[in-house]
Parts: sequence; C-alpha cells; structure tokens
Amino acid sequence: MTPLLRPAPSARTRLLAVFGAPVRHSASPAMHNAALQELGLDWAYVACPVAPADLAAALEGARRMGFAGVNLTVPHKQLAVPMMDALDASAATYGAVNTVVFEAEDAEGLWRPVGQIREPSGPVRTRGYNTDAEALVRSVSEELALELRAARVLLLGAGGAARAAALRLADEGVGALWLVNRTEDKARALAGEIEAGSPVTGGHVGYPGGDVELILNATSLGLRAEDPMPLDATAYALGRADGVYDMVYRPAETPLLRAARAAGCRTANGLGMLLYQGAAALELWTGRPAPLATMRRALESEVYGAAT
Ligand code: ATR
Repeated sequence: MTPLLRPAPSARTRLLAVFGAPVRHSASPAMHNAALQELGLDWAYVACPVAPADLAAALEGARRMGFAGVNLTVPHKQLAVPMMDALDASAATYGAVNTVVFEAEDAEGLWRPVGQIREPSGPVRTRGYNTDAEALVRSVSEELALELRAARVLLLGAGGAARAAALRLADEGVGALWLVNRTEDKARALAGEIEAGSPVTGGHVGYPGGDVELILNATSLGLRAEDPMPLDATAYALGRADGVYDMVYRPAETPLLRAARAAGCRTANGLGMLLYQGAAALELWTGRPAPLATMRRALESEVYGAAT
C-alpha cells in the first residue's frame, strides 16, 4: 500500500489525545490519524500516559493548550465524571466518560466544540460523553445480526464496562439479563439496579436455566494467555447461545470465542465496539461523518498487524 502523504504538524494543527495508564498499547492514534488524514483535516491525535492522580491536571493542561478533545481509557473513565464542567446524558447515565469535548462560545454566544469554531477565543469548558455503550449495542446488533429487543442475555462481569453494558441493554429493551461475576455482591447490586430502573428487563444473578440469544463477556478475562475462561462451561454450555460477543479484541479470537465458534455460535470480538466509540468521538469533535472503512482498516492493521 502506498503511504499517503501527510503534512507535518504546524502551528495551526488541532490536537487530540487519549489519556490512560497504561496507554502505549492503544490503537486509537492509528485509527484517528487515519481518519483525520482521510478527512483532509490538519489535526493530530497522540497518546499520553497519565496517572490517575494527574488526570485533573492533564485535562486542565489540554484545555488551556487548546486541544479539541480527549479520549479517556483505563483507569480514568469513572474518575473523570466529577471533573467535567458539563455532562452529556450518556456520561451521566453510565457514570463514565470516554470522550471529552472542549467547548467555547461561537460568534452567536452558543457553546460549541472548539474544533468546529474557526478562531476559538474566550473561556473553554469540558463536556463529557460516553460513546462506549452505544458502540457496544451497534457492534453486537450488526456483527451478530441480533435483535436485542426482548432478547435473553447472559452478561459476564459486573465492573464499569459491564454496568454500562447492562444499563444500555436494558434501555434497548432486552427481556432478561443474567449476571455472573467473580464477586457476586457486585452482580447482585447491578441486577438490583436493572430491576429497579427498567420496566421490561428482568435482572438475575447466576446462570440462566434455558437458552439465551447472547452471551456477552465484559470482564477483562481473555486478554492474557493464562486467563481462565470468563464462563464456567460445566455450569452453562456455550451451545445454548445464538451469539457470543467478547469485548476483548486482542487476541482476535479469545478462548471464549474459539469455544463458542466450535459450539456453533455466531461470534464477534470487541474491535467493532472500539471502532464505533471512536467514530462517534471523532464526529463530536469535528462535526464530520467518520470514515468508518478507513478507521476499521487502520485498527485491524494496528491491532492484528495485517493490512487488509
Ligand atoms: P472495567 O471498567 O473494564 O469493567 P473493572 O470495573 O475493574 O474494569 O471490572 C473488571 C471485571 O472483570 C469485573 O467484573 C471483574 O470481576 P470482579 O468484580 O470480581 O473484580 C472481572 N475480573 C477481572 N479479573 C478477573 C479474574 N481474574 N477472574 C474473574 N473475574 C475477573
């Protein structure tokens, strides 16, 4: 593939970043820089290692230095919520911020993303969004060809990612959620939250008695080769699910997905979720439609080392 020419950053280059700890593994710079280039924008996206104790200072620095936006990854998403000047409903609902938009007042006095104002001036504020939950639902529906309304779902995990997934799936109208987690108290608390907040979704703790449309892994198990499976295959047979989705995307096929494929399930990993959360963030910052095909190619090449 011929590398596309890219102008060197200049004094006019708009800046974006991802803050995390660790962040060196992040595929977001590759995905976003490919998109920015495709859009012909003189913008650049970098990864910054930021310790949790430095998050507030780093956000303040980015604000003062005129950044257009920031993504937040582990372990910042929940920490950032009280640091935002304004919260979009998505971040307030899921209690986590993965996308920060810096906003300034335009000529009409309306707060708008600084990346969409020609010469931003005056005070700048932060608005926190969560683009993860929507991305998950889109990726699961498309890649597993699943109708989520009224579906029965076995959700593995009860941490931050699982909570956002559970609340978003309940919003989507899934019929029942079974929650399985190493720390059962957390599963019980989340099931109680679903039961209390959703008129249509039943929240249960433990493995379902019957078949399900979807098994969703929202634990971190599968990232490392020595990890056990996030599901006890003696307690619940994978073949009882139509589709299995693993939020883990590295390796491309986790032991859970391999076993699910062998059991005849449709399978998908979390790369699509990563893509769609990034596409939504890019659209918030730039106001331009995200070039999805380019972003997916850049992600696959970065994560799996295969230029496709
Ligand atoms: P995230 O924000 O990515 O969801 P988290 O809130 O730390 O991160 O949640 C991690 C999830 O993976 C939890 O469900 C966690 O189980 P616990 O609630 O019992 O901690 C699960 N998890 C992580 N390591 C695990 C392990 N070795 N065995 C079983 N579950 C594990």
